[in-house]
Amino acid sequence: MKQSVLQKARMAYQPKLPIVMTHPVKVVEGQPTQSVADQEDIKKLFPNTYGLPELRFERNPNPTTGRPINVGVILSGGQAPGGHNVICGLFDGIKKIHRDSRLYGFLMGPGGLVDHKYKEITADLVNEYRNTGGFDMIGSGRTKLETKDQFDKGLEILRELNISALVIIGGDDSNTNAAILAEYYKTINAGVQVIGCPKTIDGDLKNEVIEASFGFDTATKTYSEVIGNIQRDCLSAKKYWHFMKLMGRSASHIALECALQTQPNVAIISEEVEEKNQTLQDIVNYIADIVVARQEKGCGYGTVLVPEGLIEFIPAMKKLIAELNEMLAHNSAEFAAAADQRQYVIDHLDAENAKIYASLPLGVARQLTLDRDPHGNVQVSLIETEKLLSEMVARRLEELRAEGKYAGKFAAMHHFFGYEGRCAFPSNFDADYCYGLGFTASCLINAGVTGYMSSMRNLTKASVQWLPGGIPITMMMNMERRHGAMKPVIQKALVDLKGNAFRYFASKRDSWAVNDSYVYPGPVQYYGPAEVCDQPTLTLQYEHIGK
Ligand code: FBP
Repeated sequence: MKQSVLQKARMAYQPKLPIVMTHPVKVVEGQPTQSVADQEDIKKLFPNTYGLPELRFERNPNPTTGRPINVGVILSGGQAPGGHNVICGLFDGIKKIHRDSRLYGFLMGPGGLVDHKYKEITADLVNEYRNTGGFDMIGSGRTKLETKDQFDKGLEILRELNISALVIIGGDDSNTNAAILAEYYKTINAGVQVIGCPKTIDGDLKNEVIEASFGFDTATKTYSEVIGNIQRDCLSAKKYWHFMKLMGRSASHIALECALQTQPNVAIISEEVEEKNQTLQDIVNYIADIVVARQEKGCGYGTVLVPEGLIEFIPAMKKLIAELNEMLAHNSAEFAAAADQRQYVIDHLDAENAKIYASLPLGVARQLTLDRDPHGNVQVSLIETEKLLSEMVARRLEELRAEGKYAGKFAAMHHFFGYEGRCAFPSNFDADYCYGLGFTASCLINAGVTGYMSSMRNLTKASVQWLPGGIPITMMMNMERRHGAMKPVIQKALVDLKGNAFRYFASKRDSWAVNDSYVYPGPVQYYGPAEVCDQPTLTLQYEHIGK
């Protein structure tokens, strides 16, 4: 396969391990832990893996020779830059323990374990993928590992390959399932350890003990590069308003980080919209007022960042979508046969929801009734929120024009940045972080533990100063209602409106709205001075202030 010049150069990059990991290590136990909430319930559900101590590593002055171990690895969920490096770190780690250790990758996500689809990860294979983006070495998938049947099917192949440890690289749901699997294998004495690794570009798998999920750094830098480029284009031509939707599913961490990096005229943060109980019209009016204010200064252009999950955080839209889901599920045949489907929906919703539905642009109204997932829910991520907002802003500006309050020309361009960032070459931060997470996973395996997530702390310091360790996954759990029943899950981190990152953004946004304060971060840099190449995200830096 033809390789780009950068790909060749990156293969030679040696990720920097924390200093402690450059020597043989021994595990040091901290205090026993508790789950973040619902301690009694979680303890009951995880009798074997609840309350375990946090682990850290120390140099081992008297290392013993390790035994060969066979390990399985799974990439789960959406791609995130650095996934291959987790596998590389894990591979190098288990080979250091014993050169006859073997690594097997289950193909296309957790489904590969259940369906017994795998390949051995050899030194040649690993070397092809060092410091590359993507998950294509073994592929990824979204099959949920949650039933006993799946666990037992998985165990068959683990036994066949003599695998005694499984590493699951995934987000909050995948790591929740890793904890359940660890507990199950422990209960039946399967002799298989399960270790998780925190992955997701969305940045919502973090807490007091996990400082960041991998991939967030590279993805936000990639998006910020293009947002910056667009801002410069905007400033050069002075004729468009650019509406940019950013991935991130529910939480707005990506939108916030990109706003901090690029200083756009508008950035909407879903968590704030929900807290302030704002309506769609409130958001539209807010943007329109900024368009008017800028027009008065002679600036008929600007940039707006929109988080992917916005719609679900607007309380009134949430209610509308809930009623639509119910109503369409019960009247699907009648709805399908209706001559005027929009009117049919309006006639079958309660008055308040009908009013909101009627106010939506036709395209979005149609999307809300068409795109449904297998559970019958609207696929909100398919809704083109950036277009919805710009159409409604245009409409609002016409009202203001009629009142003599606006006299400009509003031309909007639309963008969705998501997939472009998920498989980028990992930044030095993600390359080092992921390699370290994989290497740490091998040390946790060597320590014989299960139900732990590989962790790295002190992430705002140089990577050699990072502190590797293991966090019991049950520690991050609470009980939440899922599909009508209470389930133990890892708590998802939403943007903290009291946190330093959001507060800084909120203190600056009025000035960014009317002035051209754009920042142009440029492309991710891999070679050069540390201040250009190795800086962690601004979110991470703000979160560490005072720590
Ligand atoms: P994970 O939570 O699995 O890491 O996925 C993140 C994500 O990229 C979201 O930002 C996005 O909404 C979703 O995946 C898209 O999913 P898909 O790849 O299935 O289209």
